[in-house]
Amino acid sequence: MRHGPDRADRIRAVRLALALLLAALPAAAQEGRRAFEDHCASCHAVDRGAPPGPGPNLAGVIGRVVGGAEGFDYSPVLEAARAAGDRWDAARLGRFLEDPEEMYPGLWMGGNGARDAADRAAIVAFLQSTR
Ligand code: HEC
Repeated sequence: MRHGPDRADRIRAVRLALALLLAALPAAAQEGRRAFEDHCASCHAVDRGAPPGPGPNLAGVIGRVVGGAEGFDYSPVLEAARAAGDRWDAARLGRFLEDPEEMYPGLWMGGNGARDAADRAAIVAFLQSTR
């Protein structure tokens, strides 16, 4: 005889909810949010549709063409990178953050990336989690 969902069903439902939560918020991305707030958030928004600060909105930047935020006034070097078809992937973003000016000389970005490799990896993971 059954009275609605049994205990095993409830445990399965809780496990599924937890798995979904963990998939949405990997630990690295959490750490990355903190590192992003320390190093980047003064200039960059990460909520979709939020107005840009001094720098472009970075929601969903991984996969986006370089210099590709709608309506943002980029430097000539990023305009040229866009024209050349450069696209942000995790590897390019990691290298960029190591030394932004080296990748794009003449960049207008006042921030100098993130010197610490663990911070960089965490920031990349965090930006990967934004849409
Ligand atoms: C002092 C302000 C400032 C800080 C701090 C800063 N940025 Fe930027 N960022 C900018 C500006 C301005 C641009 C546009 C540069 C240009 O047009 O040359 C930019 C551009 C970028 C781009 C290229 C975006 C695109 O649409 O192609 C990425 C990626 C980026 N920043 C990531 C970061 C990350 C990650 C951090 C933190 C580690 C950071 N920035 C810190 C101001 C800043």
